[in-house]
Amino acid sequence: PDADAEAYFDAVIAADQKIEPRDAMPEAYRKTLIRQIAQHAHSEIIGMQPEGNWITRAPSLARKAILLAKVQDEAGHGLYLYAAAETLGADREDLYAQLLSGRQKYSSIFNYPTVTWADVGAIGWLVDGAAIVNQVPLCRCSYGPYARAMIRVCKEESFHQRQGFQSLYVLARGTEKQRAMAQDAIDRWWYPSLAMFGPPDADSKHTAQSMEWKIKRYSNDELRQKFVDMTVQQAEVLGLTLPDENLQWNEERGHYDYTQPDYDELMQVIKGDGPCNRQRMANRREAVESGTWVSEAAAAYAAKQDTRQEA
Ligand code: ACO
Repeated sequence: PDADAEAYFDAVIAADQKIEPRDAMPEAYRKTLIRQIAQHAHSEIIGMQPEGNWITRAPSLARKAILLAKVQDEAGHGLYLYAAAETLGADREDLYAQLLSGRQKYSSIFNYPTVTWADVGAIGWLVDGAAIVNQVPLCRCSYGPYARAMIRVCKEESFHQRQGFQSLYVLARGTEKQRAMAQDAIDRWWYPSLAMFGPPDADSKHTAQSMEWKIKRYSNDELRQKFVDMTVQQAEVLGLTLPDENLQWNEERGHYDYTQPDYDELMQVIKGDGPCNRQRMANRREAVESGTWVSEAAAAYAAKQDTRQEA
């Protein structure tokens, strides 16, 4: 039966169809999916912090409503993704514990500070723009529940990206100070956004296997290039510049040449030593501790409802 299961898995992957929760799958496939989906979920949850920082200070009611909706979407994405990880047999409490202990990662990008209002626009435009480039191919991932979750997530990310672009567009056409603030935010978020795609292909330990399993459809460098090509044109429309003097259309390659982000910095941030890692984790821990009474009360209430229904 083991040989049959293996043959079935290989045939499904070869036919470009979906593996579903009840299907047999190699242990390493399950493990790599749990790793990636959990890291993705944690990123959404930690990712609420940098922008949450501006909810009380958004410059208008409309901007505040948009930002609130966006941060709530991120909470929803996190819960959606934890549910996808659960279909692989992962235990949600265990995933939370692994985030808090640092055994599981979350995206490097959320360890950078949001020092001005324009950072909210830059995150929407660049960070969510990069997230979309990375996540649209995940809608075709070989694992059914992850692929299906990505469809809705990408639709919402697309709204996030546009609101960021629109916000920067307004700032770019505002006062000198507003324009300078928008440019400064782009200058600070550009390279960390490029680094989000992960280490260069030569140093990416999981890419080859994940592409063979059709979890990843493109390598880190392919997606990074796609993001650069797309973003250069959008910057022109914004009337702001990307902080890279080497950005240049390369006729031969059919792509823009660009300066690589600092991968040593990426590794340092991934290891827990970025500008805001400690603050992000401390906030998360505090949220769990101060919210325990709420989840305990909710669980007690649910248990009581169950007994009543049985009676
Ligand atoms: N931040 C933190 N860790 C990273 C990052 C990053 N930007 N890029 C790579 N890593 C980690 C990998 O998790 C891996 O570590 P591990 O083996 O301990 O898990 C290691 O660096 C080596 O990288 P790769 O071999 O290239 O790893 P992988 O094949 O998983 O590719 C990638 C990394 C592209 C991030 C992939 O996991 C992915 O597509 N994930 C889903 C998308 C996602 O998580 N997005 C979150 C941010 S977007 C948002 O929420 C708005």
